[in-house]
Amino acid sequence: MRARGLWMVRPLSAVAFATMAMAAAMATVAAGWAADHAVAPPAPRQSELLYLLRQDCGSCHGLTLKGGLGPPLLPEALAARSDEDLVAAIVEGRPGTPMPPWGFEISRDEAAWLVRRLREGL
Ligand code: HEC
Repeated sequence: MRARGLWMVRPLSAVAFATMAMAAAMATVAAGWAADHAVAPPAPRQSELLYLLRQDCGSCHGLTLKGGLGPPLLPEALAARSDEDLVAAIVEGRPGTPMPPWGFEISRDEAAWLVRRLREGL
């Protein structure tokens, strides 16, 4: 009985170990993450993101992104900020300010793509 029980447990712990190893690998990748290496989202998702930028982000940052309740998101306004800072602002929000976190809807890669668009003036 005991031996049989062990057989049942072993494959399970192998799965658990693989999951842990994968999580560790993903954490390493996340730590080394850089906006300029982010992959552009597929074309239909790009349209969705640009729509979101105008509608949702535009409600605070202005329809033409010149600023409103939120600061302007025009290229010259963002020039002094790092990609990491801007991507973090989008994904995690700015606690204590009206800037909400968008991580539930926008991935880091997508935020990085948006930052590149914003830097180019869309
Ligand atoms: C409810 C209002 C509101 C909405 C909606 C909003 N923002 Fe913001 N955002 C702000 C405010 C306010 C700040 C300034 C926070 C601070 O003081 O650091 C900000 C800051 C930022 C910054 C950092 C700018 C900088 O110069 O540091 C970026 C980038 C940004 N928002 C992008 C976005 C994007 C992209 C969206 C839509 C997905 C969005 N925001 C939606 C209010 C908003």
